[in-house]
Amino acid sequence: MRFFRAVAAVTAIGTVSASFQNNTYDYIIVGGGPSGIITAERIAEAGKKVLLLERGYGPTVSTGSNETLVWNNTLTGIDVPGLSGDIGSLPQWNQYVCTDTAGQAACVLGGGVTVNYMVFVHPPERDFNDKWPQGWKWNDVKSAASRLYERNPGSTLPSQDGELYDQALYSTLKAFFSNLGWTSVDMSEQPNEKYQVYSHPAWNIKDQKRAGPLRTYLPLAEQYDNFQLSMGTKVLRLMRTNGQITGVEVEFASGETEIITLPHHGRVLLSAGALSTPRVLWNSGIGRKAQLEVAQQSGINLPNEQEWIDLPVGEGLKDHPIFPFVVKTNGSFTIPDYPAIVNGSDTADISLYREGDGVLSQGKHRMIFFTANDVDGQTRYYQGSCAPSAENTVSITAYMTHGATSSGVLGLDVDGNTIFLKSPYLNTQGDQTAAQSFVQGLIDDVKTAGWELETYPNASSIIENYTQGVHWTSTAMIGIDDGRKLGGSSVVDLDTKVYGTNNLFIVDGSIHPDLPSGNIQATIMVVAEAAVARILAL
Ligand SMILES: Cc1cc2nc3c(=O)[nH]c(=O)nc-3n(C[C@H](O)[C@H](O)[C@H](O)COP(=O)(O)OP(=O)(O)OC[C@H]3O[C@@H](n4cnc5c(N)ncnc54)[C@H](O)[C@@H]3O)c2cc1C
Ligand SMILES: *[C@@H]1O[C@H](CO)[C@@H](O)[C@H](O)[C@H]1NC(C)=O
Ligand SMILES: *[C@@H]1O[C@H](CO)[C@@H](O)[C@H](O)[C@H]1NC(C)=O
Ligand SMILES: *[C@@H]1O[C@H](CO)[C@@H](O)[C@H](O)[C@H]1NC(C)=O
Ligand SMILES: *[C@@H]1O[C@H](CO)[C@@H](O)[C@H](O)[C@H]1NC(C)=O
Ligand SMILES: *[C@@H]1O[C@H](CO)[C@@H](O)[C@H](O)[C@H]1NC(C)=O
Ligand SMILES: *[C@@H]1O[C@H](CO)[C@@H](O)[C@H](O)[C@H]1NC(C)=O
Ligand SMILES: *[C@@H]1O[C@H](CO)[C@@H](O)[C@H](O)[C@H]1NC(C)=O
Repeated sequence: MRFFRAVAAVTAIGTVSASFQNNTYDYIIVGGGPSGIITAERIAEAGKKVLLLERGYGPTVSTGSNETLVWNNTLTGIDVPGLSGDIGSLPQWNQYVCTDTAGQAACVLGGGVTVNYMVFVHPPERDFNDKWPQGWKWNDVKSAASRLYERNPGSTLPSQDGELYDQALYSTLKAFFSNLGWTSVDMSEQPNEKYQVYSHPAWNIKDQKRAGPLRTYLPLAEQYDNFQLSMGTKVLRLMRTNGQITGVEVEFASGETEIITLPHHGRVLLSAGALSTPRVLWNSGIGRKAQLEVAQQSGINLPNEQEWIDLPVGEGLKDHPIFPFVVKTNGSFTIPDYPAIVNGSDTADISLYREGDGVLSQGKHRMIFFTANDVDGQTRYYQGSCAPSAENTVSITAYMTHGATSSGVLGLDVDGNTIFLKSPYLNTQGDQTAAQSFVQGLIDDVKTAGWELETYPNASSIIENYTQGVHWTSTAMIGIDDGRKLGGSSVVDLDTKVYGTNNLFIVDGSIHPDLPSGNIQATIMVVAEAAVARILAL
């Protein structure tokens, strides 16, 4: 394969053009997050010529990073599972988070999976059976899930010696939930069990390192001569003649731009994430008129207005709200000394990790629980991710997940940032009532156990201080109700092809019509496997 940072591709004559070959790519894929890497690898595996364009750079040594740990020059902070618990303190963090999206997202090779907390929730069947269209029900996508899990299964037992470390919090919470009559499950083996259950966390870890498509698919793609990755290469817009995409315009870190042309049989796949794919669409004259006018004002050269394709891009935006619980218990916990791990002075944990063991072989959380409630005939699910935050204190990140009915609207500003035109959180009566019931119920249980709430002392303060789940979806939804027609809500058809185009597809969180029952990354990857199979079959 051909693999480079765009800056490194600048030739002696000062041009990057030689790197790309006009009119030769069968597929150009925009965005090297989990969705883009999985689709690119499967398409290259099928023998097609693929160009994968990623605006960020590689976070691991094998993808070009030189920001290695002082105690191991083949590992970066991104690789070590235990450092995910304090990932926002790594020096690379500011280079890796996007600065032009409405909410938090990552602009680095590997996408959100490079910077996330690694919680890996195999989706239950109902997540697909509820609102996904025909052709995308669990029976349709389960083989895609198997293909994913074969390469990237996640793990509840990630250490070399098969031991779980630092289990005090798990023991304290296990006693708490057992008293309430909740049951223990293996969240990966029993994904359908989501009512009053708790589990050891499943993490996106393989061979004692952060896994994800960057580690489990990209090296396979690199074996193919027909695969090319270009980093530091941001796609600004697509060139098109009516419904036919004819090329992409890219911008390099230097600010220089270039057009890469596509042969007539070629296809473009957008995998820039639910907060960035809409911008590429708007910049290409696809979306509501109000947004396309803002895109023009931002300085992008749009197609003539007669060629605009009127689709509900950005409408339907969803995310999980997070309710923060800080609970003082009667347990006694430890928190890894992250600065000492980074600077090499925590020799005890580092030597254990050299054997593949210890807390550095695990992620941040010590328990994940799931439950559900029904206040209005609609079942809403909840996930609680539990980690120690002080000696006696557990911090519970409690998400309202599948079944939430709120949605918002994503838009654009004249500087080219995506923005929230309408917040996606808790804007239905049902979600508000359900949140109140769930939060008050957990508070009552905490108080019955003799524990105390810190920081947020009551249900209204917990609910009003909700934060973003950063599991963005539904900004370019899949469905049969063509969004160009009155009342239609879908931007892509069942093959993930954008309505009104011949050769433009979307494969990322944007197309999900609904929220999953927990952290989203495994679902994102299942959907990418299912989508690429449909695209290749066309
Ligand atoms: C801080 C954080 C913590 C999270 N924690 C968890 C967790 O613990 N568990 C979990 O399951 N999920 C978690 N998530 C969510 C999960 O990581 C994302 O939902 C997932 O990565 C989305 O995948 P995607 O392929 O849709 O898009 P993204 O991951 O957003 O990937 C999009 C890619 O496209 C690139 N790109 C964007 N625009 C352009 C352009 N114009 N040109 C070229 N390239 C472009 C980006 O740089 C990026 O690499 C977290 C997310 C974040 C940000
Ligand atoms: C590809 O085509 C575009 C548009 O015609 C042109 O600007 C660019 O220089 C070409 N690139 C190469 C490598 O020939
Ligand atoms: C690391 O890589 C960056 C980007 O290529 C470069 O600017 C920097 O000098 C390198 N640092 C070291 C210590 O090699
Ligand atoms: C550094 O990490 C790699 C990968 O985990 C491992 O193979 C190697 O032995 C480590 N080196 C040292 C000096 O610990
Ligand atoms: C905490 O309280 C529970 C319930 O009273 C009790 O069973 C448990 O032993 C206590 N744990 C500790 C560490 O004191
Ligand atoms: C490493 O970090 C620890 C914890 O912050 C600190 O006590 C120690 O002085 C640091 N050591 C070095 C060599 O910087
Ligand atoms: C909830 O706690 C907040 C402090 O965050 C306080 O201002 C408010 O009065 C409390 N509300 C109730 C109903 O007790
Ligand atoms: C949380 O929300 C309440 C409103 O209920 C507000 O008064 C309080 O300042 C907020 N607390 C924090 C810690 O943000």
